[in-house]
Amino acid sequence: MYRLLVLGGGRMGSALLGGLLRSGWCAAEEVAIVERRSEVRELIDDRFPGVTVMERPVAADALVVAVKPGDARTACTLVKDRGYGRVLSVVAGVPIAKLEEWLWDGAAVVRAMPNTPALLGTSASAIAAGSSATEDDLVWAEAVLSSIGVVVRLPEHLLDAATGLSGSGPAYIFLVAEALVEAGVLEGLDREVSRVLTVQTILGAAKMLAESGESAEALRSAVTSPGGTTASALRVLERSGMRAAFLDAVSASAEKSREIGRSAS
Ligand SMILES: NC(=O)c1ccc[n+]([C@@H]2O[C@H](COP(=O)([O-])OP(=O)(O)OC[C@H]3O[C@@H](n4cnc5c(N)ncnc54)[C@H](OP(=O)(O)O)[C@@H]3O)[C@@H](O)[C@H]2O)c1
Repeated sequence: MYRLLVLGGGRMGSALLGGLLRSGWCAAEEVAIVERRSEVRELIDDRFPGVTVMERPVAADALVVAVKPGDARTACTLVKDRGYGRVLSVVAGVPIAKLEEWLWDGAAVVRAMPNTPALLGTSASAIAAGSSATEDDLVWAEAVLSSIGVVVRLPEHLLDAATGLSGSGPAYIFLVAEALVEAGVLEGLDREVSRVLTVQTILGAAKMLAESGESAEALRSAVTSPGGTTASALRVLERSGMRAAFLDAVSASAEKSREIGRSAS
């Protein structure tokens, strides 16, 4: 029997599979992936030699559901009679109660909200336990998602907040990058030079945040000399309401996520 079956071989399903193989969590022979598109099955076959790629679900110890929200109900119905030991859903917006209703009685479900950098192994995931999920199930889900980045545990109602922050978050940073590249061009830099400087600045700042052990506030303060260039720039950003815009943006995304959860069927 397979150790894990991944249902849905798209971007997230393949990112997860790649992470699990790369991290050594499993060997290629221990996992199977179900994908309905033949061209995607071929791609997975080429990319992950040794992994079983199929059109229909087979038995496995555990299941990962990685289909689009609109396909989740059908996907759950497809596996309903098999009764996998554990289920990890990375489907955005579909509440645990719905998954439990669509799967078998007593299904041990863990719901996760990963984000796009999963494709590069640098995802930020939040997970929440279903009504039948045990501590062991959560530890298992953490191990699976750790292969594509960092994982935090939350009660389910806070997954909407995580969606607003880390789920939609990469897009906020892309927008900041876009604006900075444009700003460099406005100041006379060649577009490619501006892009290189912008990307490395974001990368460097993120690394400092991740590795220095200092808060964002402390790091910002350390690079803001009294009366200096950065202080002048920060005044403009504060006056423009940048901080309030981020507060509102995260809340808007979280509210939209709550709305999607309410309408999931
Ligand atoms: N990509 C991300 O960065 C990201 C981040 C956070 C959360 N997620 C969540 O992860 C889930 C998957 O996202 P994705 O970007 O990987 O989507 P995707 O690229 O569309 O992948 C889903 C794949 O599953 C296939 N599929 C659907 N129903 C199936 C079934 N019953 N049996 C076999 N294969 C089936 C789809 O085929 P068709 O194309 O024919 O439908 C598609 O190839 C979504 O719920 C999304 O919200 C994704």
